[in-house]
Amino acid sequence: MLKSGPGDPPEASDRQSALALVRAYHARTMHHFQRYARGPGGLDWETQPDPFRRYAGAELLALEHVPLEQGPLYREVFGGSPIARAPLDRTSLSRLFGDSLGLSAWKQYGDSSWALRVNPSSGNLHPTEAHVVAPAIPALCDTPILAHYAPREHALEVRARLPREASGALALREGELLVALTSIHWREAWKYGERAYRYCQHDVGHAIAALAIAAAGLGWRVTLLDDLGREDLLRLLRLADDRAAEPEEPDVLLLVQTKPNGGVARSTLEIPAAFDTLKPIGQPNTLSSDHVEWELVDLVAHAARKPRTENAYAAETLLAEPAADARLLASPLALRPILRQRRSAVSFDGETGMQLAEFLRMLRATQRFPARVFPWRPRVALLCFVHRVRDLAPGLYLFARDPAALERLREDSARAFAWAKPAGVPEDLPLVELARGDWRAHAAALSCHQEIASEGAFSLGMLAEFDAPLERFGPWFYPRLFWECGAIGQVLYLEAEALGLRGTGIGCFFDEPVHQVAGLATSAWRSLYHFTVGGPVEDTRLQTWPAYPAR
Ligand SMILES: Cc1cc2nc3c(=O)[nH]c(=O)nc-3n(C[C@H](O)[C@H](O)[C@H](O)COP(=O)(O)O)c2cc1C
Repeated sequence: MLKSGPGDPPEASDRQSALALVRAYHARTMHHFQRYARGPGGLDWETQPDPFRRYAGAELLALEHVPLEQGPLYREVFGGSPIARAPLDRTSLSRLFGDSLGLSAWKQYGDSSWALRVNPSSGNLHPTEAHVVAPAIPALCDTPILAHYAPREHALEVRARLPREASGALALREGELLVALTSIHWREAWKYGERAYRYCQHDVGHAIAALAIAAAGLGWRVTLLDDLGREDLLRLLRLADDRAAEPEEPDVLLLVQTKPNGGVARSTLEIPAAFDTLKPIGQPNTLSSDHVEWELVDLVAHAARKPRTENAYAAETLLAEPAADARLLASPLALRPILRQRRSAVSFDGETGMQLAEFLRMLRATQRFPARVFPWRPRVALLCFVHRVRDLAPGLYLFARDPAALERLREDSARAFAWAKPAGVPEDLPLVELARGDWRAHAAALSCHQEIASEGAFSLGMLAEFDAPLERFGPWFYPRLFWECGAIGQVLYLEAEALGLRGTGIGCFFDEPVHQVAGLATSAWRSLYHFTVGGPVEDTRLQTWPAYPAR
C-alpha cells in the first residue's frame, strides 16, 4: 500500500509500490467468466449522479450554435490535407467545444429523457469535464479567462478573470489556448464500482481525440503538455477540495495552437505563482445525495498521478502518419455532420458487412489520428474478429498499429497461429491472419456475452503493451494506455459513420479469456478495450429531440 497521504503524489521511492498498486488494481478489476469485477450489484437510482457539473455563481458566456454546413470535408481532416486556419474568435471556439464535447441529441423513453453527447461515454455517465484557459476573445470575453465548459448550456462558466500577472506569465503565444480534462470518478463508480477508473480513462481518450479532430477541422493543432504533473494542473485549474466525494481529478492539459507559431513543439509550461492566489468563482453543484466509497478507485487514481517530468518522451521514436487512403480521398462527406451524428449502435442486423478496402481504411485511420496527438509511439495493437468482410476469410486477425510490435507479439504469443499476410492486403499494412474460422460465438462471449460483438462486420480487442511502458515511464502511464485506446475508439466511431455503418465501444469484456485467445499468458500485453462495427438496428421505442431545442 502507498505510504503517502491521499493528497500527496507518490515520492520517487514509492514508485515501485505505486506500480504494484496499479498492477494489483488492474488484476483485481478484470472480469472473469465466473465473476465480474466488484461493483454495486444493483443501481441505486436515488443517488444517480447528475451528468452535468455546474459552478453556481459563475458568469455564463454563451457560445454560438454554428451551422453544420460550415467546415471542411471529412477527408480533409482524416486525409491530412491543409485546412484553412480559422481565426481564434467566438465562432471558432464555439465550434471547437460544440464539435467535440457538446450535446448531440436528447432521447426520451416514456417519462425519462437523457442527453447524448458528441463524445461517447461508458454507460452515458460522462465523467469527463473540460476547462479552458483562453485569451481575451472579441464578442466573448474582454479579459483572459479560466472557464469550465457547460455542455447542456453550450456555454463557458467563468471561474476566474485572469489578471495580467497570471495570464501574461503563462507565456502562451498569440493564438494559443489551453484545454484541461478532468474526471469525476464517482459518476462511473456509481454504476461500475471498482472497474470505473478504467472507464474514466477510456472516456478521457475519447475526449482528447474528439477535441483534436474538432480542432483539426478548424486548421488548429492539439498537443499534450504531458511533462506537467498533476499538481501543476491543480494549481492551474483552481479546483475545489479534492477530499470531497465528487472531486474532479485533473487528467491532462492540452495546448491548442490556432496559428502555426513556427511549428514549435512543446511539452510543458510554467504555471505562474499568481494562479495560487486566484480565488475561483462558483460553487460546484452536488451530483448525488449520497455516495458509496470505492476505495480501490481512489487508491489507483492516487498511485497513477503524474509527477512533473522533463522530456519524458525524448527517447520515443514516433511513427510517420500513413499515406492517405485512396477510398477516403474520394469521399465527399462534410466533417461536422459526421461528428454530430456519431452514436453507439445498440444492436446490429447480423447481415451487413463491409468491403475489404473499407476495413483496411478503418485500420489505417487508427494509425493516423492518435499518432498526431500522442507524444509516444503507439502501444496498442488490434486483435480483430472478422465476421463479414468481403474478400477476407472470417477469422482472427492481428493489426499491429506499430509495425515493429508484430514481431514482439509473435514472440510473446504461445499459440501456433498462421501469422500470414492475407491476399489483397498491401505489404506495408501490418495486418496478419492468425486463425481462420467462425469466431462469432467467441467474440460475443468474450465481450460479456454481448451480441453486438458477433452480429456486426467485425469486432476487436485492443491489446496494449503493458509491462514495458509501465516500467519505462512509471505508474502514471497506466491511464495513458487507456487514453490511446479511447482515441482509437473515437476514430473507429467516426470511420464507421463515414462508411454508413455504426460502431460501439465495449468496456465490458472478460480479460483473461481474451489473453488466452491471443496466447498471451503474461502481462507483457493486456486487453484494455473492445470495439465493434456493423449495420445498426435502431431502437424505435426511443424518441429523439434536438440537442439545443430552445435556441
Ligand atoms: C469506454 C466505453 C465503454 C463502453 N462499453 C459499452 C459496452 O460494454 N456495451 C455497450 O453496449 N455499449 C458500451 N458503450 C457505449 C455507451 O453506452 C455509449 O457511448 C453511451 O450510452 C452514449 O451513447 P452514444 O455513444 O450513442 O452517444 C461504451 C462506451 C464507452 C466510451
